[in-house]
Amino acid sequence: MADRYLTFTRTAPGRFLTRGLGLPRPVPLRRWSPEHPALEGPLLHLTAGDVPLPGLHEVLTRTGLPPHAGPLGTRRPAAVVLDATGVATVTALVDVHATLHPVVRSLADCGRVVVLGAPPSPADHHQAAAQQALDGFVRSLAKELGRGSTATLVRTTSAPAALPALRFLLSPKSAYVSGQTIEATLHDESVPEPPEPERPLACRTALVTGAARGIGEAIAQVLARDGAHVVALDVPAAHTDLVRVAERVGGTPLTLDITADDAGERIAAALPDGLDVLVHNAGITRDRRLANMAADRWSPVIDVNLGSVLRTTDFLLKCGTLRRGGSVVATASVAGLAGNAGQTNYAAAKAGVTGLVRSLAPRALAEHGIAVNAVAPGFIETRMTAAVPLLIREAGRRLNSLAQGGQPVDVAEAVAWLALGGVNGQVLRVCGQSLLGA
Ligand SMILES: NC(=O)c1ccc[n+]([C@@H]2O[C@H](COP(=O)([O-])OP(=O)(O)OC[C@H]3O[C@@H](n4cnc5c(N)ncnc54)[C@H](O)[C@@H]3O)[C@@H](O)[C@H]2O)c1
Repeated sequence: MADRYLTFTRTAPGRFLTRGLGLPRPVPLRRWSPEHPALEGPLLHLTAGDVPLPGLHEVLTRTGLPPHAGPLGTRRPAAVVLDATGVATVTALVDVHATLHPVVRSLADCGRVVVLGAPPSPADHHQAAAQQALDGFVRSLAKELGRGSTATLVRTTSAPAALPALRFLLSPKSAYVSGQTIEATLHDESVPEPPEPERPLACRTALVTGAARGIGEAIAQVLARDGAHVVALDVPAAHTDLVRVAERVGGTPLTLDITADDAGERIAAALPDGLDVLVHNAGITRDRRLANMAADRWSPVIDVNLGSVLRTTDFLLKCGTLRRGGSVVATASVAGLAGNAGQTNYAAAKAGVTGLVRSLAPRALAEHGIAVNAVAPGFIETRMTAAVPLLIREAGRRLNSLAQGGQPVDVAEAVAWLALGGVNGQVLRVCGQSLLGA
């Protein structure tokens, strides 16, 4: 759906009015395209604290936005990476200010600030306090940056473990991800670099539920762009759209109601050679305040958004259809993190998805070699949000640090990144740092 306000703010009268009245001035986000696959400008690598993260410079050279050597001159950095992993005392926090204060104003439009932190130590409350301080710092900075720029904290135990998150965050693919902390502590020396970096999911099979339209359609497209063979699943009523999507991405349609009792068996039967990436995207809303909500608005929402996710994940793990080295990406929602009046059913289901991810992720990785993560979209421009009444829709669009709704492709890029399995147990908000929610 077109964001007419954003278009208007780019015109001369729009600029005049928004400046005069102090209204939000969203900047069109720079998203990935074949012509513009990388951020444009140098990457500035800074360090706070006495002990830099070993090997970080070499890792940064592998992100697609290599670190700049020497003075920047008049060039504005496209990204700043601040290594604050060595900040172990409150006194050392002064370095965070000293390093970023002089450069933050010069960040290019749609730029990135990535702060690298260490996990807070249960055995050292001074280190834990200093490291937790970085979380509040980054969330606040993300609200200040403006001009389409984002800020994220990545907690890591080594430079190689941070590489997958850095690759995503330092690219245009993370345009609508801001103001949160990502735990990036996995590092397996034995995982080779993908043979085709442009198609990291080559030779992989991915199943996307709810793929006939909206976010699911975008996920199917992006996974196919990244080399996966996509099996696109949706309800019988969406068959025509589903076939169109499957054809467009060179995939296979699978017409199925994901809440059917035998959904797991039918998916396994359709994938005799196994599955690498399971994307639970299908979702429905049936909004009413609890006092007005009949059971027929409660149960289907819980079943589509949560029950079916649990059942099919369990089944496909148990029967071995999900192959070692694969991943599960579920779809939560900012509504499940923040709560939303009129959505007790939906928020309960989406919060349940985050519970599933956090509990299953360590076991699925240890026992099956499978990463389990979720995306939590905020306001995304789809048919689901087009149905929201105008004023609430406009508020939903603006109440985030980027002052605009996200596009389905923003969620799809996040799913495609999580599908690579470089992190585990994460619930990644794709919400432009929605002011509702964590
Ligand atoms: N649009 C947003 O702003 C937003 C925000 C947060 C979370 N989400 C979540 O993102 C996901 C996609 O949202 P969307 O906006 O693209 O929704 P959408 O309504 O446009 O598409 C949902 C798709 O899921 C399919 N589906 C519904 N029930 C199904 C079932 N039982 N079996 C198989 N397929 C089924 C529908 O047919 C449809 O194609 C949902 O899980 C939604 O809850 C969306």
